[in-house]
Amino acid sequence: MKNKIDSLVKEAEIFVAKSLNDLECFRIQFLGKKGSISSLFQDFKNVPVDHRKEIGQKINALKSLIEETIYQEKLKLSGTYTSEDGKDLSLPGDDLSLGSRHPISLVRNDIIEIFNRQGFIISEGPEIENDEHVFSKLNFSPEHPARDMQDTFFIERQSADNSHPGDILLRTHTSSVQVRVMENQKPPIRTISPGRVFRNEAISARAHCIFHQIEGLYIDSNVSFADLKQTLLYFSKAMFGEETKIRLRPSFFPFTEPSAEMDVSCKICNGKGCNVCKYTGWLEVLGCGMVDPNVLENCNIDSSAYTGFAFGMGVERIAMLKYQVNDLRMYFENDVRFLEQFSYSL
Ligand code: DAH
Repeated sequence: MKNKIDSLVKEAEIFVAKSLNDLECFRIQFLGKKGSISSLFQDFKNVPVDHRKEIGQKINALKSLIEETIYQEKLKLSGTYTSEDGKDLSLPGDDLSLGSRHPISLVRNDIIEIFNRQGFIISEGPEIENDEHVFSKLNFSPEHPARDMQDTFFIERQSADNSHPGDILLRTHTSSVQVRVMENQKPPIRTISPGRVFRNEAISARAHCIFHQIEGLYIDSNVSFADLKQTLLYFSKAMFGEETKIRLRPSFFPFTEPSAEMDVSCKICNGKGCNVCKYTGWLEVLGCGMVDPNVLENCNIDSSAYTGFAFGMGVERIAMLKYQVNDLRMYFENDVRFLEQFSYSL
């Protein structure tokens, strides 16, 4: 009997479970109802009294060894879970490819966040507008070229019977939201208006018939051009880096007087001149100016009590500067190979 126990000990010592099934067979072989341990205990009845202590201890030691072996082998296999149909459930799953925000959304959110910090809150207006909000209240004279068929998508031309006031059209700029805000709110007003705009242009690398703008408007008593400059300088540094310089060039817009275009120093070449800035050291970023008193009056704001500034920028333009992707069409084609480059890395 001693020999039998010793050989079972050896067998247990070298046992390695290849699978949970294998381990279960081992358990049944030793600890099952008709297993080796139970048959040893059967035989134990016949062991002479003076050997009982020694044999009893040996059987108990074997039993502990078996239990320990089962425990250890189970631990080793514990990474492997097999489903009923034999699939290894412990295998890692397929990578989930995370979507990403569109680069235009990323840039728009950045811009909004920077102006939020300066107290500008978002306001929005409709994409389908009328002539009044897009042009006439913004001081565009009736024969202004921007109203031309070439630029504007008209939905309904002014009816001969005057059943609706002026043309119905797709807004060509977000400056229309300025008008709606001023019509509905009393100063102080400090708002930014992000949105889609539409122009009847042939699609090319540099032009698209749909693009995105962000309009800014600040109306209060004593708002000056210096306030405009500081606000835009703060924005430019936050957007393009602390070392960024700005310059304002005189320009013309019907709704601002004086008007300016703002350039930022080219951060690709640090102002030395490169092909991105066309060797000028400067990049044009936005249009701006002091709100023309006519516009204030058109929107029932007393121009003797209030002044204000406004600015408008193209989101695609800022994205082009930020990501150096200079073909506008890339932002609209939704080519996954392009969009993937903006995915978050975990
Ligand atoms: N609306 C102008 C455009 O679409 C941009 C602009 C220029 C907006 C000057 C403004 C501004 O508010 O003051 O080109």
